[in-house]
Amino acid sequence: MSLTEDLARFIEDAGQKQALFPYLYAARAPFDPKKSAVYYSGPYWTDEEPRAAIECLLTGKWLSTGEHVHRFENAFSRMHDFTASVMVNSGSSANLVMISALKKHLGWADGDEVIVSVVGFPTTVSPLMQNNLVPVFVDITMDDLNFDLSLIEARITPRTRAILVSPVLGNPPDFDVLADLCARHGLTFVLDGCDSLGSRWRDKHLSDYAFATSCSFYPAHHITTGEGGMVSSHDEKLIDLARSFAWWGRDCYCVGSANLLPEGTCKNRFSKWLNHYDGVMDHKFVFTNVGYNLKPLDLQGAIGLVQLGKLDEIHAKRRVAKDRLAALVQARIPGVRVPGELPDACTSWFGVPIICDDNTLKTQLVRHLESNRVQTRNYFAGNILLHPAYAHLDDQSRYPNANLVLDRVFFIGCHPSYDEAVFDYVDDVLSKFVLRPAD
Ligand SMILES: Cc1ncc(COP(=O)(O)O)c(C=O)c1O
Repeated sequence: MSLTEDLARFIEDAGQKQALFPYLYAARAPFDPKKSAVYYSGPYWTDEEPRAAIECLLTGKWLSTGEHVHRFENAFSRMHDFTASVMVNSGSSANLVMISALKKHLGWADGDEVIVSVVGFPTTVSPLMQNNLVPVFVDITMDDLNFDLSLIEARITPRTRAILVSPVLGNPPDFDVLADLCARHGLTFVLDGCDSLGSRWRDKHLSDYAFATSCSFYPAHHITTGEGGMVSSHDEKLIDLARSFAWWGRDCYCVGSANLLPEGTCKNRFSKWLNHYDGVMDHKFVFTNVGYNLKPLDLQGAIGLVQLGKLDEIHAKRRVAKDRLAALVQARIPGVRVPGELPDACTSWFGVPIICDDNTLKTQLVRHLESNRVQTRNYFAGNILLHPAYAHLDDQSRYPNANLVLDRVFFIGCHPSYDEAVFDYVDDVLSKFVLRPAD
């Protein structure tokens, strides 16, 4: 029996017994309050995604980035009104090639500054350092944990080039204010959209306000390809550059099946490409950028194409789950607050942020939830300047609100698989919480 027949039979047998991957959320058994866990996130897959991946593996021409990734890039662009997108192997890689491409495309110099929140995920900030740019930090507001827009103007200097915003758990600050700040000061609006896929401001995609946007497809995010990320823009040249950085720094911009064209997309593949070499050179091996290899596998593109079809459902279900859980937490636990969205925002929530009045409450509530199988997470790094890799950048004590995050803030999930059984279970767990005096 051939491998293909063998796998086809395996899939058939497994499919008859139960959903292929019962662990995956959309396909798993009903929630059992006696033993199921309330995972904060995870893939929202049915059997379609593994099938697409296996089919791609068995029938694809090229295991690495190929036709499926290219189709996913195009479908992603169409859905979000981008001119172009390039898929990479993670959201961190997306941020890295996005910043590298922006620096080159817009002529930023070493030492130029980018304004960013002091609270968030490390690989929002690290690509700035890796590109010899200077992150200039802004403290957060405790209203919604986003950076405090009223503090930004004071941080702008003649070397400021951009504002890099990463909406907290998908929830945008006032994008009109940010767009206005960028316009008045001639700054580039850059969006780390890893947590905010699908969120809107004034009924437009958040990315409509930005010059460049990144996205992550790690399983904690709205859609997942296992690992994966995307850089998108309305500027095609920027995406060509980002692709070059992700593809070893090469000059050739053939993608998908164009990779197989004898003359290439440029119709000039074999030509005199190098200034100091007279011979004919294959464009595929001309290097114009100091690049990386951050390409995804083609089967990740195949999975992404299936996931895109579920995006609207995922947004709607995450919004319902966030509202239900926010109401339960605030009704059951005195001393907590769950930030909401601004009137012009429509947030596709990444999680349910919970702000506690003090550290005793946070510590005991997190312990209570975790010991009852309700997963929790910190809001990532808290103040990034507390961490050894970043501490040299600035004095952490200048950011008092940021320093409250580890003490008082955490989040729980709002996964699209949550149903009434999950909400009832979380309500029951919350109802049994008793705050003890601090030790
Ligand atoms: C805001 C933000 N940016 C970047 C990343 C990095 O994405 P990845 O895990 O795909 O590298 C994350 C990860 O969760 C994130 O939350």
